[in-house]
Amino acid sequence: MDKHKMVAMAERIYRDVSGAMATGLAHLGAESGLFTAMSGRGTMSLAMVIEASGLQPRYVEEWLYGMVCAGYLDYDPEAGTYALPEEHAYLLSSVGTDHYMGGMFGMPPPLLAQAPRLLQAMRDGGGVPFGDFAPACRHAIDVMNRGNYDNRLADYWLAQLPEVVARLQAGGRVLDVGCGHGHAAIALAKGFPASEIVGVDPDAASIAEARAAAAAAGTPGIRFVHATLDGIPEQPGYDLITIFDSLHDLPDPVAVLQQVRARLAPDGVLFVIELKVADRLEENRTPIGTMFYGFSMFHCMTQSLAHDGAGLGACMGPAKTTALFTAAGFARVEQLSIKSPTNLFYAVRA
Ligand SMILES: C[S@@+](CC[C@H](N)C(=O)[O-])C[C@H]1O[C@@H](n2cnc3c(N)ncnc32)[C@H](O)[C@@H]1O
Repeated sequence: MDKHKMVAMAERIYRDVSGAMATGLAHLGAESGLFTAMSGRGTMSLAMVIEASGLQPRYVEEWLYGMVCAGYLDYDPEAGTYALPEEHAYLLSSVGTDHYMGGMFGMPPPLLAQAPRLLQAMRDGGGVPFGDFAPACRHAIDVMNRGNYDNRLADYWLAQLPEVVARLQAGGRVLDVGCGHGHAAIALAKGFPASEIVGVDPDAASIAEARAAAAAAGTPGIRFVHATLDGIPEQPGYDLITIFDSLHDLPDPVAVLQQVRARLAPDGVLFVIELKVADRLEENRTPIGTMFYGFSMFHCMTQSLAHDGAGLGACMGPAKTTALFTAAGFARVEQLSIKSPTNLFYAVRA
């Protein structure tokens, strides 16, 4: 046995379990408002953090210690002060922006809570349906994605499709398939007020959230339908159909893509966002690759297998994704050159 290799692995295991606990601590920091309470405040004593957060002193103290060890906070041992650096605050206390990363901390808790059922499914088959995950899972997906939808979708991402933008500005029709909590559809309704926007999702709780969010946003040209595409008539067709972070989740993606094709207006475009994953496994040996395979194993693949589905998982990569479009009869698949550390973008035409 190579002793150095064994020691390196032991260190790796400490680091990974430490990463899991740092995620938990950071999740508490994001949800309790601790990061926000420390943002822009410079160095703070324990008493100052307690006062700014309004939280229980002993919990604040232990959280500070853990976050110092994890490198999230600066610590001055002489002065006994803590600080959330400006660069960290940019990512951790910027809810609603396209650079907020705190939403990701919300994923592991509801996913890992399903470990007993996952173990059972690994032995007996089946999976865990989308609706059986805690509501916290839906919320985490929403918080992870919505900053991008709010800030990038209408103005920046769709700028790659000028002919679609022209049609939507003039008053087009948009269908968001697997709309979840509805923030992509709401961003489109805000960006293109002359257009008619429909969101569809078979998850009742998601549709309830989407309707509430649309009411709060005051976007009248929007409608959320609790259904699969079976509940959406083929005519009149849609100028833009979107499938965001959902294609890989579908039990029968090719069948849904065929339904999408039948619902596109002449010259309409299907705009798909999937996770940024390489086709070759060896190119995915990165922290993001590990995170995506974890999300996939604990959620995406498993909720599809719960319906005897394809179980494609979150890490399809461009080759498999393109093969789905082709199998559904689409003629033209274009991967768009939109920069993102985590997403790939496709414009697909009949
Ligand atoms: C990972 S979530 C993504 C939600 C949202 N698009 C976003 O980007 O935040 C996947 C969504 O696909 C939905 N879904 C699952 N099966 C579906 C189907 N057959 N038709 C439409 N949506 C479906 C789920 O209910 C869930 O809301």
